[in-house]
Amino acid sequence: MSQRALQKRIISATISAMDEAVADSLRKTLPAQTMGIGIADLGCSSGPNTLMVISEIINKIYETCSQMGIPLPELRVSLNDLPGNDFNGIFMLLPEFYRNLEKENGVGPEGCFISGVAGSFYGRLFPKMSLHFVHSSSSLHWLSQVPPALCTKAGKHLNKGKIYISKTSPPSVLKAYLSQFQTDFFAFLRSRAAEMVAGGGMLLSFMGRSSPDAAAEVGSHQWELLSQALMSMVLERRGSTLSMPPTTPHAEEVANIVEEEGSFIINHLQGFEIDWDGGPTNNDDDNNNNNVVNGFENLSRGRRVAKTVRAVVESMVESHFGRDIMDELFRRYGELVDQYFSKTRAKHINLVLSVTRINSCY
Ligand SMILES: C[S@@+](CC[C@H](N)C(=O)[O-])C[C@H]1O[C@@H](n2cnc3c(N)ncnc32)[C@H](O)[C@@H]1O
Repeated sequence: MSQRALQKRIISATISAMDEAVADSLRKTLPAQTMGIGIADLGCSSGPNTLMVISEIINKIYETCSQMGIPLPELRVSLNDLPGNDFNGIFMLLPEFYRNLEKENGVGPEGCFISGVAGSFYGRLFPKMSLHFVHSSSSLHWLSQVPPALCTKAGKHLNKGKIYISKTSPPSVLKAYLSQFQTDFFAFLRSRAAEMVAGGGMLLSFMGRSSPDAAAEVGSHQWELLSQALMSMVLERRGSTLSMPPTTPHAEEVANIVEEEGSFIINHLQGFEIDWDGGPTNNDDDNNNNNVVNGFENLSRGRRVAKTVRAVVESMVESHFGRDIMDELFRRYGELVDQYFSKTRAKHINLVLSVTRINSCY
């Protein structure tokens, strides 16, 4: 299962929560809105998943409007990601998307205005009170930066030899990651609070952990194995200061930040498990993504995970250690993951958070 198919599986697992959140925010905001509905997908990436999410949201809006007996509102759909994202790749898919929309809902481009918004979701992206529903999947565990507190003022790296929180990391490392997540997630909520109308809803899903202990195996072990693969090749020799910017918060840490920020109430906050490689691959997700053609199906589970992780972190690792070691590094990593799979069911925890904007005072 490729990275894209893994994310698609995560999106599918959250569809019923998303449908509920869309319908709820429409019921709370529709009577008041006259300027159409503002929708944003944050960290949309580029590829089939991007428009799949949007089409699901739009279908639910149309279904809810018809149940409420009100005319379809105009939709303003904003697709956000960092400036380096391939927005053109998404725009190329729009003609087909609009053809399908017209077929399914009788609405063409004149009823649904789609645009790309480049920038970090840790800051403001949209005008005040312009959004009714916000979605983000598999993106918010990416911190805005590697926690600066991982390095002391004297230049000492506190997590030497590790690239994420591990069982041997000192408490200061756990604190540094948590503190960066608190800063980032607070800034995210504060920005959305300004941009969303009262009653608007947000459905967020991102990687987390089930144990209150940040060094517990579940949630961090994938990085521990990558550390081991690196260690076997270069770390000791060059002295690594590479740290990973994704993190895995616990539900309680997330809930505390929502409460502290104060603009949203939590409707639903839950974790679900997903295998590192998304589980068995004999489904049509992978066929759609040409994995069979690319030989992805024939790889061992560990090598599939290695390929998926490589796609996400290679540029970061390469900038520290150079291109030469990449093939060997991810080969060793795949082997370690295979060994790990032979002993245990390796899984991630994904958190799903649904919130409603309670008042508009920013
Ligand atoms: C793993 S992809 C998820 C793509 C898609 N949402 C999905 O579920 O299939 C994560 C995306 O988040 C984006 N991202 C990470 N940090 C971001 C930030 N601060 N602001 C906007 N996008 C960000 C990345 O560029 C990447 O495209």
